[in-house]
Amino acid sequence: MQLRSLLCASFAFLLLATTLVVVAVDNSTYYVPRDDILLNCGASGQASSFDGRSWTGDTGTRYAPSLNGDGFDALRKDPSVSTVPCSTARVFTSPFTYRFPLSAGRIFIRLHFDPSDYSNHAASDAFFSVTSGPYTLLHNFSAYLTADALNFAYLIREYSVNVSTGGLNLTFIPSTTHPNSYAFINGIEIVSIPDLFSSATPLLVDGDDGHIVYTIDPDQALETVYRLNVGGQAIPPIEDSGLFRSWDDDSRYIYGAAFGVSYSNDPNVTVTYPTSVPNYIAPPDVYSTARSMGPNAQVNLNYNLTWILPVDAGFYYLVRLHFCEIQYPIVKVNQRVFDIYLNNQTATEEADVIGWSAGIGIPVYKDYVVMTMGRGQMDLWVALHPDILTKPEYHDAILNGLEVFKLKNSNNSLAGLNPGARSQLYVDPRDLRKRSAKHKSEVPVIVGGVVGGFAVLLAGFCLIGMCKCQKKKMMKEGKGAVTSNGPYGLSPLSLYGNTRSAASADFNLCRYFSIAEIKAATNDFDESRLLGVGGFGKVYRGEIDGGITKVAIKRANPLSEQGVHQFQTEIEMLSKLRHNHLVSLIGYCEENCEMILVYDYMAQGTLREHLCKTQKPPLPWKQRLEICIGAARGLHYLHTGAKHTIIHRDVKATNILLDDKRVAKVSDFGLSKIGPTADKSHVSTMVKGSFGYFDPEYFRMMQLTEKSDVYSFGVVLFEVLCARPALNPMLSDEKVSLSEWALHCQKNGMLDMIIDPYLKDKIAPQSFETFVETAVRCLADTGKERPSMVDVVRNLELALQLQERAEESDSIDGGISDETVLFVGTENKDSDDRLIESSTTTSMIGKSPARQESQVLETQIER
Ligand SMILES: *[C@@H]1O[C@H](CO)[C@@H](O)[C@H](O)[C@H]1NC(C)=O
Ligand SMILES: *[C@@H]1O[C@H](CO)[C@@H](O)[C@H](O)[C@H]1NC(C)=O
Ligand SMILES: *[C@@H]1O[C@H](CO)[C@@H](O)[C@H](O)[C@H]1NC(C)=O
Ligand SMILES: *[C@@H]1O[C@H](CO)[C@@H](O)[C@H](O)[C@H]1NC(C)=O
Ligand SMILES: *[C@@H]1O[C@H](CO)[C@@H](O)[C@H](O)[C@H]1NC(C)=O
Ligand SMILES: *[C@@H]1O[C@H](CO)[C@@H](O)[C@H](O)[C@H]1NC(C)=O
Ligand SMILES: *[C@@H]1O[C@H](CO)[C@@H](O)[C@H](O)[C@H]1NC(C)=O
Ligand SMILES: *[C@@H]1O[C@H](CO)[C@@H](O)[C@H](O)[C@H]1NC(C)=O
Repeated sequence: MQLRSLLCASFAFLLLATTLVVVAVDNSTYYVPRDDILLNCGASGQASSFDGRSWTGDTGTRYAPSLNGDGFDALRKDPSVSTVPCSTARVFTSPFTYRFPLSAGRIFIRLHFDPSDYSNHAASDAFFSVTSGPYTLLHNFSAYLTADALNFAYLIREYSVNVSTGGLNLTFIPSTTHPNSYAFINGIEIVSIPDLFSSATPLLVDGDDGHIVYTIDPDQALETVYRLNVGGQAIPPIEDSGLFRSWDDDSRYIYGAAFGVSYSNDPNVTVTYPTSVPNYIAPPDVYSTARSMGPNAQVNLNYNLTWILPVDAGFYYLVRLHFCEIQYPIVKVNQRVFDIYLNNQTATEEADVIGWSAGIGIPVYKDYVVMTMGRGQMDLWVALHPDILTKPEYHDAILNGLEVFKLKNSNNSLAGLNPGARSQLYVDPRDLRKRSAKHKSEVPVIVGGVVGGFAVLLAGFCLIGMCKCQKKKMMKEGKGAVTSNGPYGLSPLSLYGNTRSAASADFNLCRYFSIAEIKAATNDFDESRLLGVGGFGKVYRGEIDGGITKVAIKRANPLSEQGVHQFQTEIEMLSKLRHNHLVSLIGYCEENCEMILVYDYMAQGTLREHLCKTQKPPLPWKQRLEICIGAARGLHYLHTGAKHTIIHRDVKATNILLDDKRVAKVSDFGLSKIGPTADKSHVSTMVKGSFGYFDPEYFRMMQLTEKSDVYSFGVVLFEVLCARPALNPMLSDEKVSLSEWALHCQKNGMLDMIIDPYLKDKIAPQSFETFVETAVRCLADTGKERPSMVDVVRNLELALQLQERAEESDSIDGGISDETVLFVGTENKDSDDRLIESSTTTSMIGKSPARQESQVLETQIER
């Protein structure tokens, strides 16, 4: 009780403090750009973007007086979308130049591309170059292919150049080698900025032991490739410190299962900029959130906290790391000391943020330059690991912000290749160094020759809700339709067609078992250990590691049609997915033509077993809510936490398993599909899944989105409430389908007639209302009307809190009237999930969700 009110108090304080920060930020102390041009291409007049910034149409603008002429089409996209600047585009079929008279100095150029069809111009036909004075910003660029590969609907590319007094010429040149090619642009931003780069003295991390300082030329041209608010939420341009930069959430770039812990500043700590770090370097929101490795020193010593950032090979990159200690008790040197690796090379040993900054709450940033060789895409690795040589107090590491800028190459170009083939020519700089050492040549001639170009590729929050492309493309489908049943997914191993070679790289993420070990674990597939049987084969209970660890062992039927290929893809997919609310794949065995998968053992079986036709005692309401919240978090992770959206496709009560502590884990990704990419808001597929849970929209349109899972989850919610199966053919026609019957009862105000009799009078009315409202919204007819999984999680948490509150005020007279108690659940959950929790943590800890919840709450209370 005491702990609880303490938590509420500190959480309330946190809320208050964040509100204060928002109020206290005096924008006049931020940088005010001299030039701030926002050009809405293809439009005329003034228009506001969703964040309130005012854009001017480029028709008849002084930057392009000839634009009234022929040949340059101003085109409107889907008229229903009216978002500035992407609802209109300027299309060029021959080269065209915008001229911006500017005063001398450094600027950001932001180019907005919405790869959509414009009238008779197909999105996929646009290939073009963009130059700015002597610099090539883009070459043979296809916004369509790029957005598709990144899974973004919309692209913003940010460049920084130093303009001389002549101003800036920005030229769009359609490719001459592609038929029907054209160039297009939706919006151009020109913002003058202070000197962010030339005072930097980055260390060149090139595999040599002693790092030399790399000199950033004052005329360097750069492209921003990544700008991440590590451990925090995306920061939109208007909340930046005057430069209108976008800061993204970092969670999607974290490697593997180890997400560390994200947190924000102690309420007593205010971010205070020293003179060496002007406040325009990064806004306080960046420094006041961080990611660290976690509370367990032993775990931390065994992993690297790693971000993987795909980049174009063949360029130098400036990597800027932002640090700030923001929580007690870390206030002194040698408390938290760590190593920083870039591309597997040591960038800094014994990094000590307090040592650099001289105090808690004081920001500091460090610059490094790494070189990459070859052509095509490669990954830039940024990794942190505790350094124990100096015997620090904590074995941990921290990072608050991460920026990556591409430097122009010796051809004055920042342009990479379109995505597609990965670089075959990628050369590890260390090999080069070894080679050159052999040949007794000099130190690689790098330093002088390369002067700046930075390329930035941004996409993210500012795009949400904007510019949803409507293009449809049929996807080839894999094997025939199957429904699955039973624990651990007895469905055939399926399917999202990656190649074996791609899969093999991930195999080291999970463990290999010999057939002898598997036989020992299952007592030679003793039938008394059978947990279930399905199309795929049989699932056995087993013990490994000398009986310590219980596992579920899924053995493919040797006669099953499923090939090695599907087996590999399942391993590839599952081994990458780690989450507290997903059943984990522990390992696999592929020997003697056997294909065997080893999973965590879920002692309490399926959720379904606890609901109906069971000897098990009925679950109390609170526990049911906890199970639903866990499963919803697992699905939310599938939808957003991995590199690609993953759609489960077979969400149902038998695929939600419970471990010995009744923690819910989503299982059976056998039917899962990688979700839609940028130009497709859905994937078209054969309808698969289980009767009773089908999304009607998916059924009608054969178009799968993550909202299909939301629908099925809505059915599960009613199953939990009513303790009856999704389909019961024994009942009269109108009652066969639970989803239809429940919606009918809800409309007619008779839901209380069909709820689990055990629950009668045990559910607090507000909790019931919140729960039913959520379930009904999940069952909305079209995906658009359904909530996202994260909303479902929040609403279910609210339902749980309302229940707890009611139960407490029942037992403790008067109860707790402080509304903040309602947030405590969220806080608690986050600390439980720690290491494994991913984007969920980030999105749940952040301040705005809390605020939203408080609004929801207020409406609830008013009612
Ligand atoms: C500061 O904020 C006020 C009100 O929010 C606004 O009117 C003003 O233009 C802002 N100033 C700058 C320099 O952004
Ligand atoms: C822009 O182009 C015009 C016409 O080609 C040229 O006169 C002018 O010098 C250019 N300005 C810059 C800054 O390159
Ligand atoms: C821009 O270039 C000029 C001339 O090279 C240099 O003097 C100036 O410092 C540069 N400005 C910035 C912000 O880098
Ligand atoms: C924060 O400040 C308050 C008031 O000065 C003080 O009571 C509290 O102990 C401080 N908390 C920490 C963690 O220092
Ligand atoms: C870093 O090491 C990992 C694993 O050891 C490897 O997969 C990756 O390609 C390396 N990255 C670079 C940029 O060398
Ligand atoms: C962390 O990364 C460095 C550099 O790639 C590597 O040498 C080290 O083995 C890694 N440590 C762990 C525990 O993975
Ligand atoms: C620079 O351009 C030349 C000629 O187009 C080309 O051969 C060379 O590979 C380019 N260099 C780089 C680093 O892209
Ligand atoms: C332009 O990019 C496309 C797609 O990557 C590629 O197929 C084509 O060969 C490229 N064209 C040129 C001229 O480089």
